[in-house]
Amino acid sequence: MNITYSDRIPNNVGLAENRTLQRALEHWQPEFLNWWAEMGPDGSGALDIYLRTAVSVEKGGWAHFDYVKMPDYRWGIFLNPGDPDRKVNFGVHKGEPAWQSVPGEYRSTLRRIIVTQGDTEPASVEQQRHLGQTCPSLYDLRNLYQVNVEEGRHLWAMVYLLHAYFGRDGREESEALLERRSGDRDNPRILGAFNEKTPDWLAFFMFTFFTDRDGKFQLSALAESAFDPLARTTRFMLTEEAHHMFVGESGVGRVVARTAEVMAREKTDDPEKLRSLGVIDLPTLQRYLNFHYSVTLDLFGADVSSNAATFYSTGLKGRYGEAKIDDDHVLEGREHYVLESENGKLVTRSVPMLNALNERLRDDYIADTIAGVGRWNKTIARAGARFELVVPHKAFNRQIGPLAVLRVDPRGGVMSESAWMARQDEWLPTKTDRAYVASLMGRVIEPGKFANWIAPPARGINNVPADFQYVRFV
Ligand SMILES: [Fe+2]
Ligand SMILES: [Fe+2]
Repeated sequence: MNITYSDRIPNNVGLAENRTLQRALEHWQPEFLNWWAEMGPDGSGALDIYLRTAVSVEKGGWAHFDYVKMPDYRWGIFLNPGDPDRKVNFGVHKGEPAWQSVPGEYRSTLRRIIVTQGDTEPASVEQQRHLGQTCPSLYDLRNLYQVNVEEGRHLWAMVYLLHAYFGRDGREESEALLERRSGDRDNPRILGAFNEKTPDWLAFFMFTFFTDRDGKFQLSALAESAFDPLARTTRFMLTEEAHHMFVGESGVGRVVARTAEVMAREKTDDPEKLRSLGVIDLPTLQRYLNFHYSVTLDLFGADVSSNAATFYSTGLKGRYGEAKIDDDHVLEGREHYVLESENGKLVTRSVPMLNALNERLRDDYIADTIAGVGRWNKTIARAGARFELVVPHKAFNRQIGPLAVLRVDPRGGVMSESAWMARQDEWLPTKTDRAYVASLMGRVIEPGKFANWIAPPARGINNVPADFQYVRFV
């Protein structure tokens, strides 16, 4: 179905044919815009930004680029095309037709899953709202805003499901999604990583590399859902998520490239010397990496989880790449390994695979992450510098699950609390690191100019040059 842009709410779900739903969403729309005005990108309302907007969900043709003021962005509801013959492909309902409505017995569980996903979307906009003031270039400013408007659209995607399939409860949850605030003591966002600050652009690039990648894996698992509207919604969200990860990977990659270039030129790896030259030394970058990685690993939930087993068995949430996995897709009687501590050491323990599906998704995520970090290391080597960024052990700095009670160093060694505390400044960003990175943050808004600590991108967005006027200040 085509997207109707003449409607107040652009959509490809035939909203005009469902007046009740349309009215409910038109009632939520101004509340969303109020939230955007209050919590969205700081001081951005009048800017003309070169943004892409979804115009079709068909492959290859969905993106349209033009100057837009963000409050006028056409946030809408887009589902991937449906397959009328789609079958549930895992769990106890395997082989049955995919659901076009929510089975009563799964209603509250499914609602919780959608709300938890939905809550991350406005949270990241809130976390990033001040970054526009310190952008390293117009190109980066535009990318930040693109990520922000699409996270706003992801919120719309989840709110549509809540309104369309969960009645009054869904409407109430949709209001609450606009009321929680990232980092608020009384009414915080649901998940820990989404209450952390994103104080500087290095943190932003790390966040989009690590935490938006968690989004990719969660959305991929939901894209398998037996509840067809959720599967179709999340499939379309994944096309947007890919850009967010690109912003993170290329962003950190450009920081790495710039530092490595200076290291090679000056023949030094001395952090103090590099700081005096205005670039981010790689040990500091490693500490940022350790922080964002460990905080994001917690988002996958407890290592052993009966909820994860229920979500899978009932068909609500599959595995990453479910269709490509060669097994029975029911997983009864199968085993998987998780880590736990025994006499001060990490040991593996076998548990029913159904209970270990959070861990399984986490492991898929880890493999994807390691590949990305490997690409940064290639950049360092190519510049002629010597340093290797390393993904820490998965038990390092965890706050959720059985590993949270342990103190583990980045290489996987279990330590005493006091020994760990004494060394944490080697592993996690210190106040001094953060103050140094903050000191580099200035506002660069001349087309084609880039802050000293970051290399220009290899190419511009949508094949326009890197020195394009990506944002107009009118
Ligand atoms: Fe998102
Ligand atoms: Fe995202």
